Amino acid sequence: MAEGMVAKGLQDVVVDDTWICKIIGDQGKLYYYGYSIHDLAEHCTYEEVVFLLLKGKLPNRAELDQITRELKEARGLPYGVRDVIKSAPKGSIPMDVLRTAASALALTDPKPGDDSPEGRYRKAIRMVALFPEIVAADYRFRRGEEPVASNPKLNHAANFLYLLHGKEPGADAARTMDVALVLHAEHDFNASTFTARVIAATMSDMYSAVTGAIGALKGPLHGGANEGVIKTLLEIGEPANIKPWLAEKFKDKNFRLMGFGHRVYKTLDPRAIVLKKYSEKTGRERGTTKWFEMSNEIEQIMKTREKPLYPNVDFYSASTYFMMGLPPEIYTPIFAVARVVGWCAHVIEQQTHNKLIRPAADYHGEIDKPLPPIDKR
Ligand code: SDX
Repeated sequence: MAEGMVAKGLQDVVVDDTWICKIIGDQGKLYYYGYSIHDLAEHCTYEEVVFLLLKGKLPNRAELDQITRELKEARGLPYGVRDVIKSAPKGSIPMDVLRTAASALALTDPKPGDDSPEGRYRKAIRMVALFPEIVAADYRFRRGEEPVASNPKLNHAANFLYLLHGKEPGADAARTMDVALVLHAEHDFNASTFTARVIAATMSDMYSAVTGAIGALKGPLHGGANEGVIKTLLEIGEPANIKPWLAEKFKDKNFRLMGFGHRVYKTLDPRAIVLKKYSEKTGRERGTTKWFEMSNEIEQIMKTREKPLYPNVDFYSASTYFMMGLPPEIYTPIFAVARVVGWCAHVIEQQTHNKLIRPAADYHGEIDKPLPPIDKR
């Protein structure tokens, strides 16, 4: 790049090779290892996607049984991590608790320094297995309840709902969560994954990389947007308020409508297409389609603006989770429960083909300034 040219926000800058994920932004297409997100969402469980992202191929029946067993065997929150969660001050932000607990996982790993390929795979499985337990333990402590132990009969998604509510979910809710986890599992060089890769590129460990990624995901321009979406819907309140609410907000040119726009997609995010169906379906099952219908009306208004904007993954996940009875403060943690496998896959890829990530900056200050003594400044 020529001197004086700055790629603000690294927009459109290709920073590395990857084999994990492909997004075709102008066509709204997304692939994990070459498989369309629509096929994965329709036909695969989260366990199959975990195998795909960590091994680079879809599992056969025996391999799926094996990884399912590994994930179940890795369940069981270490007491040290449980204590960290329990000792969080009342009112702590759930993403702060998750970030702190993820970091504490390193302290309870029997071999934290093992960064062999087997060691990295084991750590990835451990984090995927334990993230639902961390989020659910925090959720229950906040409600004055003790965490429940994982249910060995249940798959990853159903067990997550079981851990939250202490009772087995219905088949519809379990499948909706499974699809949501598949859809959020991976998304190439998004901000949190890139954060993980920057940390991994120093040859630091997977817990450090994932802990940093959680910090990046928390922001409202990234994974934090799903909580922002439901707050927006609740603030608007009724369908009749949508148009005046949007007109008022868009008077401010810095206003950002949560759940809309994307750095890469210039059309509808394909994950939003799937989640839209689940938002409507969940609404029908729960006897109220109000939040789905309001979301749909906002989508229609936004796409017919002079500069159209389209929903991203965070838009319809919010109304789906809300109608599943899940509280807004855990929407971004749910995103992390799904994305942890994507982060781990990228840490492994980065460290397998490593080069330290250390960009340059365009300095605008002076140089060679005389240094005055302290009493002359
Ligand atoms: C995720 O990167 C990933 O892959 C992320 C993700 C993943 O799976 O990992 O897909 C998950 O993070 C989804 C995005 C969640 N964030 C939000 O929903 C927050 C609202 N969205 C925006 O703030 C914004 O669209 C971003 C942050 C998502 C993208 O930001 P960019 O690429 O820096 O774009 P921008 O903010 O500079 O906007 C470009 C233009 C501007 O207009 P102009 O100045 O050119 O006239 O589009 C407008 C913006 O005003 N715009 C919006 C808008 N998004 C873009 N205007 C109002 N509301 C919005 N949401």
